[in-house]
Amino acid sequence: MSVVAGSPPTPFKGLAPFQDTELDAQLFCGRDREREVIVANLLASRLTVLYGASGVGKTSLLRAAVTPALRGVPDAAVVFYSSWAGDPRHGLGEAIDSAVGIESSASLTERLAAASEAVGGDVYAILDQFEEYFLYHERDEFADELAAAIREPGLRANFLLGLREDALAKLDAFKGRIPNLFANYLRLDHLDREGGRAAIVGPIERYNNELTGETVEVEPELVEVVLDQVAAGEVDVGRAGRGGVEKDEDRIEAPYLQLVLERLWQVERERGSTVLRLATLRELGGADSIVRAHLERALGSLAPTDQDVAATMFDHLVTPSGSKIAHRPRDLAQYAEVRESDVLPVLDALGRERIVRAVDGAGGGERYEIF
Ligand SMILES: Nc1ncnc2c1ncn2[C@@H]1O[C@H](COP(=O)(O)OP(=O)(O)OP(=O)(O)O)[C@@H](O)[C@H]1O
Ligand SMILES: [Mg+2]
Repeated sequence: MSVVAGSPPTPFKGLAPFQDTELDAQLFCGRDREREVIVANLLASRLTVLYGASGVGKTSLLRAAVTPALRGVPDAAVVFYSSWAGDPRHGLGEAIDSAVGIESSASLTERLAAASEAVGGDVYAILDQFEEYFLYHERDEFADELAAAIREPGLRANFLLGLREDALAKLDAFKGRIPNLFANYLRLDHLDREGGRAAIVGPIERYNNELTGETVEVEPELVEVVLDQVAAGEVDVGRAGRGGVEKDEDRIEAPYLQLVLERLWQVERERGSTVLRLATLRELGGADSIVRAHLERALGSLAPTDQDVAATMFDHLVTPSGSKIAHRPRDLAQYAEVRESDVLPVLDALGRERIVRAVDGAGGGERYEIF
């Protein structure tokens, strides 16, 4: 049993990704197979590309499952890096140094070589949110250094790039500079129903058995209804119904699952209950109402003019017949009669709250749709 200081742990994360902590590693469930595949690839290949839809759970899987598994490899160092706004040559370089406790200031390849020498084995560099690298940087020296490190024969370092699938085409910038770039591509899919079930029941079991010794229960029928309600295409955050969206029971929207369970947990605990109940979910109005309340809160935190922009955008992100439809920022700006530079921060804020997401504009640039 591990001791957790501070406020009592809760088994659910809300919209936050799982972190690389002992607690989150224990609470993270539903991705065993994916973890094995990713770890096997990272161990065997110089470069692995992990991509998937926004919010599908890439960061959580990398931080709470893959990273701890790699740390179990003897004589190896694991470097996780995901802040691309600054100078990544500096930031990643420092992350490499601090992972092995050295100080250097050479090129990426040299730093990796020094780190590998320091541990007497391999360095695994996980570069997450890599789509943000392209957001902040044009082809710069870091891209050259990274490509050089990936190509360097004999260097004991393997790399994983994690990125959203709508940004996948941007990796073309590396094509030609990295041989076999596309040889090792892994797509992370949504949690399927089985994985979704594990993501509800697993954390509660671990909360009970490993973290607290309590005996919180979850009604089996609640689990199935939550999974029904957070399947892709099921939650309706648009103004009109989303009749046209194809429902897919086997594609669980993990952020919605988290929002619903977090809320249920909070309500039951406030009532002193040790059972998560279907009746409570119904009383709260189901996943729709819980997600909608989140939407209202998120909109409420925007400036009044941005709220107007958001409202007009929503009107256009759902067709009159109720299907969701993706639009470019430029077009959304036109609908809202504002500049593109006015809609981008709103899209960004709503993206962070998992209300809209970027999807692949198939060559025509990024489009946004309701989550
Ligand atoms: N296995 C899981 N079980 C339960 N919840 C999960 C799981 N994986 C991810 N989540 C939840 O899904 C949401 C999105 O997770 P995460 O940020 O890891 O996704 P992502 O694919 O990295 O998103 P982005 O594309 O924005 O980087 C979070 O609320 C997280 O807590
Ligand atoms: Mg992520």
